[in-house]
Amino acid sequence: MAGDVSGQGLLLQGGRLVGAAETVDADLLVERGRIAAVGRGLRAPGARVVNCAGLLVMPGFIDAHTHLDGPQDTPGGRIRTADDWDSGTAAALAGGTTTVVDFSVQETGGTLAEAVEAWHALAASRTRIDYGLHVVLTDLREDVRAEVARLPGLGVVSLKVFMAYRRSPLYLDDARLLDALRAAAAAGLPVTVHAENGEVIDALVADALARGDRSPEHHAATRPPEVEADATARVIRLAALAGARIVVVHVSCAAALEEVRRARRRGRPVHAETCPQYLAFTAQDLARPGFEGAKYVCSPPLRGREDQEALWDALRDGDLELFSSDHCAFDFADQKSLGHHDFSRIPNGIAGIEERAAVLWTLGVGAGRLSENDFVRLVSTGPARVYGLHPRKGSLLPGADADVVLWDPTATTTVAAANRHGALDHTPYEGMTLTGTSMAVYLRGSEAFREGSVLAPPGSGRHLRRQAAAG
Ligand code: URP
Ligand code: ZN
Ligand code: ZN
Repeated sequence: MAGDVSGQGLLLQGGRLVGAAETVDADLLVERGRIAAVGRGLRAPGARVVNCAGLLVMPGFIDAHTHLDGPQDTPGGRIRTADDWDSGTAAALAGGTTTVVDFSVQETGGTLAEAVEAWHALAASRTRIDYGLHVVLTDLREDVRAEVARLPGLGVVSLKVFMAYRRSPLYLDDARLLDALRAAAAAGLPVTVHAENGEVIDALVADALARGDRSPEHHAATRPPEVEADATARVIRLAALAGARIVVVHVSCAAALEEVRRARRRGRPVHAETCPQYLAFTAQDLARPGFEGAKYVCSPPLRGREDQEALWDALRDGDLELFSSDHCAFDFADQKSLGHHDFSRIPNGIAGIEERAAVLWTLGVGAGRLSENDFVRLVSTGPARVYGLHPRKGSLLPGADADVVLWDPTATTTVAAANRHGALDHTPYEGMTLTGTSMAVYLRGSEAFREGSVLAPPGSGRHLRRQAAAG
């Protein structure tokens, strides 16, 4: 659509609009927080005009796997993450992210509605960007089974289950896993799955500690790819038995990916996600001197170069539909240090909410592995589709929320803890030079970030009532 467009608003003029399917040179008009028109030569008397020459104009990025502030069950017990909703979403904005989907966790003996309420209490007044919630199912009683079907009424349309962390309340054995998958299938909701064999991990960790292997690199050695592939294959089969749709989160290795690919070839409703840390780092980072390796302890663990190549192939061909941060930030000084003499007590989790998109741009688009459209599909449109946010989020179509990133594809940043926007006392990406940066970010038409400064105050974000997406 071209020509005059009446009414005040914001006119993003002369940029290249990048979507998941195509790139077009066009202007974009925003009115009342929504995209009003897309076309060449748009004129809008009274609108604020922003010159976007040389910039890519993309739909706001969506990070559908974050752990902000809520109590995290770690091997050393319950602790809170270093980033809360205020600092975590400031960092998100700096990286171009305008929506997160975070995990609210059911307490043992508690209800799902209580979990959702508890997360709203943490998020609503602090979040600077829009948010949705998944619910982690830990205690599937008769009353909770009925509650699963009522979740869409709360705007929550995805569950999460853990096959790992056997000594924590999160862990589900196979019988309870099947039960959860059945309840989700009956309600028509997808289940996101942390797929690692928790029993085998515990046995391997006990062996390692008995041998005196206590340093961070043993984290990867005690969670080998077989452990992840085994759980991935098992949950795919149990989901088939239950008739459930699943999302295998944080896929880290070729062996687990192979199980996902095989299931998808068979037409199973299996989606999969990977994360920047599995592309930017390897298991060798766990051996950094001076306990620095603890900064790289996450689960599944970091892997090798061949695994990375397999992940790149699947990001390109679409079997990996989601690229999320799994941002779970623990301070080095007083949180990662809990495992100083025992790697199995290091809190599992790594930061990446700010770096996610720039890592994918640098290592993916910059290195010729992905197109700019693949990039938008992975950081924005894919998660919007899988998690019931599309086309309101993840698109630049007229009527969509005007969440927009003005992306400079050539600007470089050398990452340092001092130039991060979150609260963590370190960054795992310290010293890495990333290409591609968000120059400005708009949330529902309001300028939320510009040239290094976060402008959206805490409380600017809204809860997104999601709708179950079709298979
Ligand atoms: O190590 C990780 N991934 N920590 C966050 C919790 C989880 O397992 O997703
Ligand atoms: Zn996980
Ligand atoms: Zn996670």
